[in-house]
Amino acid sequence: VNAPVDANASALSGLGAPMRRPLGAARHLPSEFYASPEAFELDKQKIFMTHWLCVGREEELKNAGDFFTRNIVGEPIIVAREGDVIVAMLNQCLHRGVEIAFGEGNARRFICPYHAWVYDVGGKLTRAPHMEGCDADLASGALPRLRTASWRGWIFINFSEQPQPFEEFIAGYEAPLWFYQTDKCQLAGKVVVDVACNWKFVAENLLDIYHVSTLHANTFGKFLKNNRFDFQYIAGGGVCFEYESAPLTTDGSKAFSMLPWVEARGLGFAGKAAIFPNMNLSARADSLRMWIIWPVSEGRTQVHIYMMLHEDSFKDPAFEEKMTRYKDYMRAIVAEDQVAVESMQRLAASGRFRPGPLSHMEGAIHHVLNRYVELVGA
Ligand code: FES
Ligand SMILES: [Fe+2]
Repeated sequence: VNAPVDANASALSGLGAPMRRPLGAARHLPSEFYASPEAFELDKQKIFMTHWLCVGREEELKNAGDFFTRNIVGEPIIVAREGDVIVAMLNQCLHRGVEIAFGEGNARRFICPYHAWVYDVGGKLTRAPHMEGCDADLASGALPRLRTASWRGWIFINFSEQPQPFEEFIAGYEAPLWFYQTDKCQLAGKVVVDVACNWKFVAENLLDIYHVSTLHANTFGKFLKNNRFDFQYIAGGGVCFEYESAPLTTDGSKAFSMLPWVEARGLGFAGKAAIFPNMNLSARADSLRMWIIWPVSEGRTQVHIYMMLHEDSFKDPAFEEKMTRYKDYMRAIVAEDQVAVESMQRLAASGRFRPGPLSHMEGAIHHVLNRYVELVGA
C-alpha cells in the first residue's frame, strides 16, 4: 500500500503531471485527488470559492419572498427573491452564526431559531431583542451578500469578493451551447441523488462517452451511434460535443415535444457539454437536462438533475405519466453509473490504484482535468 501523500498544491501538481501530457500519453489522476481531505479543501478554496456556480433556476423563485437554501462545499447560503430581484447571501446569523433559513419556501422574514434576531427576505437585520446598551451598529446589520448573475434562466453565484466578470466567464459557452436554450423551456421535474464518491468522478462520468455502450448497454447505451467524437474545447475548462443517439425512453422513441431549435437535426440529435467546474448539460431531440454536482466531502457528492422541456410538452394529457417514466428512467441510468463511480472511490481510498491511460473517447475528460490540475496545483 502506498504511503499516504500529503496532498498540498505542489504535491498535487506533481501527481497530476501525467494528466497534463497530450491525450495519447496522458494518465488518469491518482487516488490522492479523490480520497484525500487536503485535496478536497484545495478543491473548495481554489475552485468552488472563486468560480461562478449555478445554484438553481429562476423559476424556482417565482414570487417575492420565495427562497431556497443550499450548502455549497460546507458554506450555507440563502437564495431569495426580494421584490423583483434575486439575491444570494450567507445563511448565518450575525449574532452567533446559526443558520436562519432551512429548506425552501416563501418567507416574509427569517427569524433566527437561537435568540430570535429577525431578518427581512433580503437579509437586512430588522430586530435584535434585548440588545439595549450594546455599542454595535445593529441598525445597518445585513447578511453578507454574494454576487449573482443570470443566464438562460439559471441563477449563478460567486463567493469571491472580486470574481471574474460573469459576462467574460460565460462568453465562451454562448455559441457552442446553441442547443441548450433553457430560456425557452420550463422546469418539468427535478431528481436529487446522493452518491458515495468524489465530485470529480461524477463530473468525469457525465462526460465519459466511452462507458455508455458498455455500462448502459441495457438502457440508452444501445442507441449510441458514434465511436469518434469531435470535442469542442472551451477556454476555462469547458467542453461541448454533439453526436447521434435517441430520446431517453426505453425504446428510444420520443416522449415529449421536439425542441424547435434542434428539429432540423432529427430525432437522433444528442448534445453534451460541461460548464466548469460542476455543471453538466445534456440534450436530446425532445428534452434538456442540467446536472449540478455538489461536493459534500471527499467521498460524498449530491447531484441535482434539472429536467427541462419545451412548453408544448406540458399540454400533453399524458404528461404526468410520461414524467414518471422519465424520472424512473433517469434513476435507473444513475444507478448504473453509481456502480462504477462508487467502485472507483473505494479503490481510490485503498491507495492501491495505479492510473491507466485514456481513450480518444475520453478527450473531454482530459480537457476538463487539465484545467482542474492547473488550478489546484497552482
Ligand atoms: S445566533 Fe442568531 S440570534 Fe443568536
Ligand atoms: Fe453513465
